[in-house]
Amino acid sequence: MRQPFVAGNWKMNGSRDSAGQLLEALVRDFQPNGAEMVVCPPFVYLADAMRTLRGSAIKLGAQNVSAEESGAFTGEVAATMLQDFDCSYVIVGHSERRQLFGEDDENVARKFMAATRLGIRPILCVGETLEQRDAGETETVVRRQLDAVLEAAGVHAFVDAVVAYEPVWAIGTGQTATPDQAQAMHEAIRTRVGEADGTIGDRLRIVYGGSVKAGNAAELFAMPDIDGGLIGGASLDAENFLDICQSAEKAGAN
Ligand code: 13P
Repeated sequence: MRQPFVAGNWKMNGSRDSAGQLLEALVRDFQPNGAEMVVCPPFVYLADAMRTLRGSAIKLGAQNVSAEESGAFTGEVAATMLQDFDCSYVIVGHSERRQLFGEDDENVARKFMAATRLGIRPILCVGETLEQRDAGETETVVRRQLDAVLEAAGVHAFVDAVVAYEPVWAIGTGQTATPDQAQAMHEAIRTRVGEADGTIGDRLRIVYGGSVKAGNAAELFAMPDIDGGLIGGASLDAENFLDICQSAEKAGAN
């Protein structure tokens, strides 16, 4: 039995005020009922978020982490610093970081390990572009992204990790993967990790990201290998995000 998981990736949105209001609404209205809920605000709002979330069941995550431990790395944020703000999770390898900030598989694997070394759970994002899908390369690309981390970190590092399958063409486009398309890739990811260790593969939470909304969450989460979602735009609205979380709880209870 895998606990459903829903995380909100706020990306570079909002203000200190709007972040505070969103968190307060989530804390007020979230009724934990089996799903794990995580919010990932921008770094600069983590301190406020930590205070607001104290005593609530909602966990805090960051959107990125440095692969380095400390030192002369201007603009970077170390895993130890995330620990200072009670971050339980950190997103690594988001396609926006891969595409816009030049992060490669090796980089992503090092970030994954920087997090797990300190007990911060990585949310490892993998996914293909539309070009790669059209060229029939979806499985190869996702497998390469996954293998880079499996080989560097070892399968045991996946015990506490979450994998997010986020097809790049579905992110922020309103074009969600169909439940069948997503399920096929989630199954492939689970099989791949399962080849390295069957128990870890079975227990691994694999969540879907890419234009998840209150209206399509239930059918996605009903698929056998989809254990929840990594939510962008819809996580900026408390009511929508809570709705999505409820869909994950219901799917988990079935
Ligand atoms: P959207 O939900 O806005 O498509 O973003 C998905 C995403 O990138 C989450 O990390």
